[in-house]
Amino acid sequence: MRKKISILGSTGSIGRQALEVIEGLNDKFEIVALTGGSNTDLLNEQIRKFKPKYAYASDIKAIEGAKPLSLEEICSNKENDIILVAVSGKIGLKPTITTIKNGIDIALANKETLVMAGDIVMPMARKERVSIIPVDSEHCAIHQCIKDISQVEKLIITASGGPFLRKSIDDMKNATVEEALAHPRWHMGKKITVDSATLMNKGLEVIEAHHLFGMDYHKIEVVVHPQSIVHSAIEYVDGSVIAQLGLPSMHIPIQYAITYPERYKGIKSKSFSFSEIARLDFEKPDLKKFKALDLAYSAGQKGGSAPVCLNAANEEAVFAFLNGQIKLFDIVEITENMMKEHRTLKNIGLDDIFAIDNEIRVKARERIKKISL
Ligand SMILES: NC(=O)c1ccc[n+]([C@@H]2O[C@H](COP(=O)([O-])OP(=O)(O)OC[C@H]3O[C@@H](n4cnc5c(N)ncnc54)[C@H](OP(=O)(O)O)[C@@H]3O)[C@@H](O)[C@H]2O)c1
Repeated sequence: MRKKISILGSTGSIGRQALEVIEGLNDKFEIVALTGGSNTDLLNEQIRKFKPKYAYASDIKAIEGAKPLSLEEICSNKENDIILVAVSGKIGLKPTITTIKNGIDIALANKETLVMAGDIVMPMARKERVSIIPVDSEHCAIHQCIKDISQVEKLIITASGGPFLRKSIDDMKNATVEEALAHPRWHMGKKITVDSATLMNKGLEVIEAHHLFGMDYHKIEVVVHPQSIVHSAIEYVDGSVIAQLGLPSMHIPIQYAITYPERYKGIKSKSFSFSEIARLDFEKPDLKKFKALDLAYSAGQKGGSAPVCLNAANEEAVFAFLNGQIKLFDIVEITENMMKEHRTLKNIGLDDIFAIDNEIRVKARERIKKISL
């Protein structure tokens, strides 16, 4: 029996690699739906090749060869065994909730969903008996290492350090968009690449890990590991450390998440060789240069609406940086200011989350406008 899958964000970096994985797994999957945003040329090319029944794009009239459905309709379709949520940013949250309510398993790449609403999403998934398998390489690594979470003392999340690891604060202050997008290890979408340059991405991952594995923030450690071979590790209460290693390729965690609990020889099943890896380095993150990491820990520890504020302010500021309106350091400064002004609300529901998200975005845009004048 082929596993039936829909890919939300099939035209993006994760989505395109997921299709490569599926193609390499000869007939293990049947694609129910593919979705894109503005890149309908690529979406239509994917439809011609993978023949999904349904598709979604921002301009649904431009879809050729598949029945147009909304993201909500796709996520309510019980033909799916699993849905890969690989859209970027806050738009991942609603489809994830719909998928859970329909009892469909999820391979989750979209970290913003758990940052915004992890307190709602994870209990809802448990109640509906829906598996959420992480795609992010770090969380996928931890998922592979954990046998019994009650015996885990600490999660150790690795970070490549991004393009500014060895640059000065001044270099970073004057960084161009091109420099921020030149990630040394991973080729990803623009939003996550900029987040990786400020290390906000690692901060978002800490919050994601807290929700996925139910671990307190003081038991989640970030360590810089420039080679990106150790994808993350856990320390058990007895001092044993188990790490997951592999070549830096998103094909592996994507395949793990969509085929779990099975494992197959996939397109990247090249044998790993320790002797070909000259060295593995580890160091503490420089929190003066990468203030975003502390900011995310603090938002996560406050809980409630604080991570919603962090995510919304950061996302707006990243878009503004990519549009040339502000400098790289302004992203974290804007986010920090919005966090300082924000009064954290506890016990919030989904409607509150969407309202707070909107409110913060409006304020962030006003601030961006002032800075860019
Ligand atoms: N890339 C990685 O290696 C990586 C690793 C770990 C986690 N993640 C996470 O995975 C998610 C996706 O990352 P990515 O790098 O693949 O991003 P990406 O390359 O920017 O792709 C985003 C996808 O979302 C679609 N999209 C954008 N706006 C949309 C809208 N309004 N409605 C519907 N679809 C829309 C895009 O469509 P169009 O392109 O057609 O506009 C594209 O298919 C992010 O949350 C990221 O943090 C990514």
